[in-house]
Amino acid sequence: MNIRPRRLRRTQAIRDMVSETRLSPSMLVYPVFVREGKNIAEDIPAMPGQKRWSPDTLPRVLEQAARAGIGGVLLFGVPEHKDPEGSGAWAEDGIAQQAMHVAKKEFPDLTVIGDVCLCEYTSHGHCGVLKGDTVDNDPTLDILAKTAVSQARAGADIVAPSDMMDGRVGAIRSALDGAGLQDTLIFSYAVKYASAFYGPFREAAGSAPAFGDRRGYQMDPRNVREALREAQLDVDEGADMIMVKPGLPYLDVLRAVKERTCVPVGSYSVSGEYSMIKAASANGWLDEQRVVSEAAICQARAGADILITYFALSLAEWMREGKL
Ligand code: PBG
Repeated sequence: MNIRPRRLRRTQAIRDMVSETRLSPSMLVYPVFVREGKNIAEDIPAMPGQKRWSPDTLPRVLEQAARAGIGGVLLFGVPEHKDPEGSGAWAEDGIAQQAMHVAKKEFPDLTVIGDVCLCEYTSHGHCGVLKGDTVDNDPTLDILAKTAVSQARAGADIVAPSDMMDGRVGAIRSALDGAGLQDTLIFSYAVKYASAFYGPFREAAGSAPAFGDRRGYQMDPRNVREALREAQLDVDEGADMIMVKPGLPYLDVLRAVKERTCVPVGSYSVSGEYSMIKAASANGWLDEQRVVSEAAICQARAGADILITYFALSLAEWMREGKL
């Protein structure tokens, strides 16, 4: 008897031949922040290497995305004006809608995903409209649905509701269908935890809640069965794809959701994951390329069909160079 698993690891060629996890640029989604103004490409201090683009400079980064052959870009609008209802979210000339027009005009083949949420647009920074001090679920659904329709009309191929209101996927699906937008897909943030890892994003998008937190609508990190329930509901309401967020700290959730649903599943490696790796690498404490590659592999191994990551452009380049 001479059973030796090590034999399968003898050479790189053999390791590649028997690899259980294979990544490709087409599975990557790159989140991009778009702000109002002209000729702006503004650094985001808490996310080194990421910028807020104005609609006229946006093509610069979209060109990189298109050239990298990645699956798509996820657009976040950072508006100038905010109000209690988040009316900028569904304005025909809102910042996200402007970005979508630009993207579709300049790069018609690049898949455009619109983040659908109100927190960037509300003066109080919550993801829905308020009744007293709490988010009022049902009146928020209409607003989210209007937002999704306006994004689809502006050119979004996919809308991605990230608000975590109950029933929003169904509301968005029927509004899209009612507007003749049957082909617009819904990529639902079905399983989104109330996470401190979103810190840098809230700086980037100016979307920190003015009071309280999001624990009344986002999920409790202690729960996984609840994730399966959320995922199933979204699938039943018509989600075409779903995601788990954050990424690396929630691999057990990703695996469970993948095993129990039959739609494509994404893993969103969030701003805090990005900033941690950036900060440690800048100090020489971690090897950025190796850590980012390993993190991507681990999410794919755990079940992610799609990886949403601020490292998408770097990952695509490393894949092209055969480093991953
Ligand atoms: C909007 C939204 C958030 C993120 C994606 N969409 C912030 C939040 O829920 O507070 C976080 C993304 C990241 O941290 O990279 N609701």
